[in-house]
Amino acid sequence: MIYSRITGTGGYLPDKVLTNHDLEKLVDTSDQWIRERTGISKRHVAEEGQYTVDLAEHAARRALEAAGRDPQDVDLIIVATTTPDRIFPSTACLLQKRLDRHGCAAFDIQAVCTGFVYALAVADKFIRTGAAKCALVVGAETLSRVLDWKDRTTCVLFGDGAGAVIVESSDEPGILSTHLHADGAYESLLTVAGGVGQGYDSLANGNGYVTMKGNEVFKVAVNTLGRIVDETLEANNLEKSDIDWLIPHQANIRIIQATAKKLRMSMDRVVVTVGEHGNTSSASVPLALDVAVRDGRIKRGEMLLMEAFGGGFTWGSILLKF
Ligand code: COA
Repeated sequence: MIYSRITGTGGYLPDKVLTNHDLEKLVDTSDQWIRERTGISKRHVAEEGQYTVDLAEHAARRALEAAGRDPQDVDLIIVATTTPDRIFPSTACLLQKRLDRHGCAAFDIQAVCTGFVYALAVADKFIRTGAAKCALVVGAETLSRVLDWKDRTTCVLFGDGAGAVIVESSDEPGILSTHLHADGAYESLLTVAGGVGQGYDSLANGNGYVTMKGNEVFKVAVNTLGRIVDETLEANNLEKSDIDWLIPHQANIRIIQATAKKLRMSMDRVVVTVGEHGNTSSASVPLALDVAVRDGRIKRGEMLLMEAFGGGFTWGSILLKF
């Protein structure tokens, strides 16, 4: 039986930081409001001229180094992003060029905040079927470029960053299960409504920026993430107590706490990084994973549950033995 195993992780946050106090100067908000409602204290923002592929490259090189791999060892590159640098080629192809890797398959996945979970699930299928042996999977975003910095209901929530993993084929598990879902009926609750398919004019009048019905998103997110945890445990005949670490999408501390409560999991077994960088969309899960691997909390052989929820709506989980 072939399994896919994560052999290296990497993360990158741009140097430029915007604190809640900085945002107080831009919109009618307060450090206290943002911390209490979201748990966020700061976010990182790409500099002018710094693009999604730049963030992705840093995270990818760190993951390669951690896995002891060279770009030439990689035979599949998947980048999850909602903020690609170009309409085409894909950010995965731009990253491939940066890594001086020629010829292997490279493509982007767009599932907003669930993007990395989708991308890792796809890489898992490639590896299990023998179609790839060593995959580079990246979640990278420059969400700051699609935020309306005058809209306090959204601009305080998001940030830029990238996270990456190397996934390799192995006789031992590995990724145990992946569960992916979507329901496009919710497309209007969290969206950037414009797009080039509608013509460039469609990006004017605020339609090129994130809009969100925060309250409604919150309720669906909490319910949905609870359900996917149950689905994942049931599919693997596991008890809640079998999970060593929960690595949730980092959107809002209250959503994370609600999921942990449902799992009857103490918050010290939940990796929480949202306070440090806000919601980095598809970068959030691999960034959190990388932090907890590098600081020694997550150890080889432990059972990890990753879950995410995002625009679409999309949602998904990955259960793995690290
Ligand atoms: N600073 C200060 N006040 C703000 C604010 C801000 N940044 N943003 C909104 N408010 C105000 C609202 O205007 C509202 O004022 P009103 O009562 O006078 O109308 C009040 O705060 C409460 O707004 P509400 O939207 O009910 O707050 P909330 O408790 O639901 O928190 C969110 C708002 C966005 C933090 C919360 O709904 C949330 O986290 N939703 C999920 C968002 C998310 O995670 N999206 C990504 C999923 S991948």
